[in-house]
Amino acid sequence: MAKIVLGVTSSVSIYKACEVLRGFQKAGHEVQVILTPNAAKLVSPLLFNSLSGRRTIVELFDEDHPWSIAHVALAKEAALLVVAPATANIIAKFAAGVADDFLSTFYLAADAPVLIAPAMNEAMVLHPQTRDNMNRLRRRGVEFVEPAKGYLACGDEGWGRLAEPEVIVRRGLELLRRSLSLDGRTVLVSAGPTREYLDPVRFLSNRSSGKMGYEMAREALARGAKVVLVSGPTHEVPPARAELVPAETAADMKKELLKRFPKSDIVVMAAAVADFSFPGQSGRKIKKQALSGDLKIAPTPDILKALGERKKGQFLVGFAAETDDLEANAVKKIKAKRLDLIVANDVSGPGIGFDADENQALLIDAGGRVRGTPKMSKRELSRVIWDVIEASLGQRS
Ligand code: PMT
Repeated sequence: MAKIVLGVTSSVSIYKACEVLRGFQKAGHEVQVILTPNAAKLVSPLLFNSLSGRRTIVELFDEDHPWSIAHVALAKEAALLVVAPATANIIAKFAAGVADDFLSTFYLAADAPVLIAPAMNEAMVLHPQTRDNMNRLRRRGVEFVEPAKGYLACGDEGWGRLAEPEVIVRRGLELLRRSLSLDGRTVLVSAGPTREYLDPVRFLSNRSSGKMGYEMAREALARGAKVVLVSGPTHEVPPARAELVPAETAADMKKELLKRFPKSDIVVMAAAVADFSFPGQSGRKIKKQALSGDLKIAPTPDILKALGERKKGQFLVGFAAETDDLEANAVKKIKAKRLDLIVANDVSGPGIGFDADENQALLIDAGGRVRGTPKMSKRELSRVIWDVIEASLGQRS
């Protein structure tokens, strides 16, 4: 039995929230309802109290229990947040991080998967601002049950009707199952660039921001895995609950990954390890006059190859950053590094690959099966990649 938090906002379709609540209860889950103050003007919290068997939360500050920080306590227990119906206003608040009532504050405090079922007038749901807000949330991993077309409360026909309660419940239960799909597994992810120093101030590196690897780590956490994130230097905010291991150079990264490899079930090598380093790095800043000649470089260790050679049942995922012959080059890397899956991205395309919020990839498994994805946010792509990894693991067992 999981604790599901049902956020209910002020739409005329609010009555359907009762069926959503019942649907989750029938599936054996406990439901805590949060009504926004405007929703509480449409229906009494007492209705949801009697259906849920729990006191409905409306106010951010509870006069009866002024010492309890309820949104934080509830955030720790919640396995899923479903907002149905969701107004344009709550979607905008979530997208902007505005926390001025219990529900919007809870959204920021909770780490659980989030499912939103919007309900509003057609002009509002199709408004570029609303679409923009929804896309911002999607990029952060929030999922939506799109509203349906039909008769609307304002008397119009069009898009904006709340999806049917059974559809919302089904999607919610899918999310709940997925939130445990990697439970018990240890996932080792590498992310970001490495820096290969010439002297204390100069280094060779690349444009990797770490976003792809961080999103792979975030999605693994959202699926219940224990995650160790070995990261090169980035400006990204590390996912909460991941064990973060900083590694600056290829040699550091190799050491940290090899140490943790035996206890890992799945390894995702999204880092862009610099291919060359400077042998005999100087401990002192080299005078620029002394740098005028050719610089000697040497290849860095191939970490992924070393992991492939030591593989004992681990599922090994590599990335391939290519500008030419994407598929053929990626296939060669599967064999050379003993991978189970490679995620090949074309790093010459605009708006994808290095230091972009979006990416597009070919997912090629060791059996030669190729799946292409459209351009999507790195979070959404990580979801596709994890679905493929899980399907392959399912076939193994
Ligand atoms: O970090 P972002 O800005 O979000 O960008 C994402 C990304 C483009 C960096 C990412 O999607 C990606 O493609 N990562 C792999 C980059 C890379 O080094 O590709 P490669 O084709 O050169 O290497 C193949 C694989 O071998 C990679 O898994 C790489 O981590 C690994 N490798 C490479 C060199 C090396 N010395 N040791 C390695 O382990």
